[in-house]
Amino acid sequence: MSAAAGEGMADGARAMIDLRSDTVTRPTDAMRAAMAAAPVGDDCYGDDPTVLELERRTAAILGKEAAVYVPTGTMSNQIALRAHTEPGDTVLIGPGAHVWFGEAGAPSPISGVVVRPLEGERGMFGAATLRAALNVDMGPVRARMQSPVRLVCAENTHNGAGGAVWPLDLLREMLAAAREAGLATHLDGARLWNATAATGIPEAEFAEGFDTVNVCFSKALGAPLGSALAGPHDFIERARRFKQLYGGGFRQAGIVAAGALHALENHRARLPEDHARANTLASGLAAIPGLEVDPGAVETNIVRFRTTAVPAPEFATRCRERGVLLNAYNRADLRVVPHLHTTDEEVERALDIFREAAARH
Ligand SMILES: Cc1ncc(COP(=O)(O)O)c(C=O)c1O
Repeated sequence: MSAAAGEGMADGARAMIDLRSDTVTRPTDAMRAAMAAAPVGDDCYGDDPTVLELERRTAAILGKEAAVYVPTGTMSNQIALRAHTEPGDTVLIGPGAHVWFGEAGAPSPISGVVVRPLEGERGMFGAATLRAALNVDMGPVRARMQSPVRLVCAENTHNGAGGAVWPLDLLREMLAAAREAGLATHLDGARLWNATAATGIPEAEFAEGFDTVNVCFSKALGAPLGSALAGPHDFIERARRFKQLYGGGFRQAGIVAAGALHALENHRARLPEDHARANTLASGLAAIPGLEVDPGAVETNIVRFRTTAVPAPEFATRCRERGVLLNAYNRADLRVVPHLHTTDEEVERALDIFREAAARH
C-alpha cells in the first residue's frame, strides 16, 4: 500500500472497494494538513494567496499565460464554451465527449450553441474529419442560414473511450486544420495528468496549440474539489466574469486550493501506480468467462468492459453485495477505475468478486 493510499481513511467506512471513479478519493492526512495551514483571502476580491498560487502553478505546468480556479470541471468547460462563442454558433466535438453528453446539456441553455459530434475512433478525430465537417461552403447567401462553426473541443485522456490518450501527432494535425480554418480550440484535459503519466510527454506539450485547457484536481490527483481553466491572459480575465456569473466565486477557496496544490505537487508522480493496477484489472477481467475487455486498449486508469452473460446492472448489484462498487452504464457496459486509495490486495479481491458475480446462478 502506498503512503498516500494509507492516509486519510479515518472518515467514512472504507470496507467497500470503491472502483466507480477516481473522484471518490478522500484528502490524505498530508493534504488535510496543507489545507489547514493554508493562507486564505477572498476569491471574489482576487486576493486569496493560495488560489493565486494554484492558478500560477497550473498555468506554468500547462504552458499558458494565466489560469482561473473554479469549483468543477463542468464549470471550467462551460465557461470556455461561453467565452469562445456567441449564441447560435456551432461547437465541433469528438464522439462521446464529456462536454457533450456528461454536463447536463449545459452548452445549449448556458451558451446557446449547437454541439455537433464528429465521427472518430476512441473519442478522437483527425484533420481530415475536421476539414470534411467544415467543407459545406454553399455561397454567401446560403451561409447566412448556417450556424457558424466557432470552436473545436478535444478530450484527453478520453473518459468515454476508457482513458484513451490522443497521440500527439494526430492532435497536432487536427489543431493545424482548426487554425487553418480560423477556429478556436479548447482541450478538456480533466485527466491530462494521466496522459502525461502514460507517455512521459509533458502536459504543456499536449496543451500546446489549444487556446484554452480545462484540468481537474479532483480526478486522479485526489484533491477534494476544483478545476482550472488556462489560456491567454485576456481570455482568462473574461472567463473570471463568467465564473462569477455562474456563482463560482468561492470566497476562502484557498482551503480547497491548498488541497489541489498539494495534489499537483505530490500525486502526479504516483499515477503510473493507478495505470499498473488498471492493467492488472483488465488482464484479470479478460480471463473471466462472460466478461469482455481489450487489455491492450487500457492506456491509463480507466477500464471499460462488457458483460455478455449477466446484465450489467445485475452484475453491479452482485458486486456491491460482495463488497465492490463499480459503474454500469447500460445492459452491457461497465467501468472500474483504480485510484489513490486502491491497493494491490483490493485489486485481487475485486477480481475474485468479479469472477463470482459473472458466474450464472
Ligand atoms: C473528461 C471529463 N471532463 C469534465 C468532467 C466534469 O468534471 P466535474 O465532475 O468536476 O464537473 C469530467 C467528470 O468526470 C470528465 O470525466
